[in-house]
Amino acid sequence: MNSRLSSSTPFLLLLQFSLLLFSIKFPPCWSLDSFSSCSKPFNCGNITNIDYPFWGDDRVEACGHPDLHLKCDENKTTTIKIKDVVYEVLKIDQNTQILQIKRDDFFESKGLCSPKYPNTTFDSQLFEYAPGFAEITINYDCPALKGVPGYFSCPDWSTYKDVFIQVASETHPGCSSNLQVGIGVNYFGDFWSMEEALIREGFGVKYKVDTLLCKEGCTGSGGVCVHDVDSNKPTCHCPDGNSRESPCPPQRPPSAQLKGTNPTQLL
Ligand SMILES: *[C@@H]1O[C@H](CO)[C@@H](O)[C@H](O)[C@H]1NC(C)=O
Ligand SMILES: *[C@@H]1O[C@H](CO)[C@@H](O)[C@H](O)[C@H]1NC(C)=O
Ligand SMILES: *[C@@H]1O[C@H](CO)[C@@H](O)[C@H](O)[C@H]1NC(C)=O
Repeated sequence: MNSRLSSSTPFLLLLQFSLLLFSIKFPPCWSLDSFSSCSKPFNCGNITNIDYPFWGDDRVEACGHPDLHLKCDENKTTTIKIKDVVYEVLKIDQNTQILQIKRDDFFESKGLCSPKYPNTTFDSQLFEYAPGFAEITINYDCPALKGVPGYFSCPDWSTYKDVFIQVASETHPGCSSNLQVGIGVNYFGDFWSMEEALIREGFGVKYKVDTLLCKEGCTGSGGVCVHDVDSNKPTCHCPDGNSRESPCPPQRPPSAQLKGTNPTQLL
């Protein structure tokens, strides 16, 4: 009895040791998951083939910048949340890095008078206004400004009594709340058209994320761009399981390449 037990102990130890080796050798599951997940583009209605730096839907969070999360509603409407404000995404151009967005609390039946997200500002760390767009401030409940250009009364059923549009990023003192939003500069000086523009067209913003590695090389080398949280930059996730800040190395073994260019073979 005793001898059987002692002879099986080293075997059990060996088994445990090899199991340990196995668990170390295999890449963690997340890297395989994110590789296949980040290979899939985001598609929603008219917005198609969107990849790094965006994530959402089938693309897990590791596939993009944490603040560039796209949501798809019934394969129709794409939305993005920026500083707690929900915007509908009308267009994405990944070459120019410009998004066309509009606040989802500005719509036909409510106009500008019942914002769901008052006292909000725009994210100037991650975004800048696209060429031709600039920021205005919409102030609410500023009764002292009646008659001033940019001042409008709101319909009875609205959250606020009046609106004062200011072509500037500063807020007006003496109003109960305010918000900042972008608009085409061609509307400056034409307060009557601004409401329509904010409801229908929205505005263009450029996302300030360095995507050069993804556009040049990573995808072409068989890799997939994922987001590295530490450097806040993309890294190229390669089929061999490694991530690099450069495109993936060739997948053919080096010996096969050497053989093809061996000068003695040419003689
Ligand atoms: C989503 O809508 C588009 C057209 O807008 C269509 O081509 C596509 O097949 C739809 N996808 C799904 C999963 O229903
Ligand atoms: C998709 O684009 C077409 C043409 O620009 C437009 O008529 C349609 O309303 C758009 N669909 C959605 C869901 O935005
Ligand atoms: C907006 O901010 C103003 C001044 O900072 C404050 O008095 C007001 O209560 C805020 N309104 C809302 C709806 O949070």
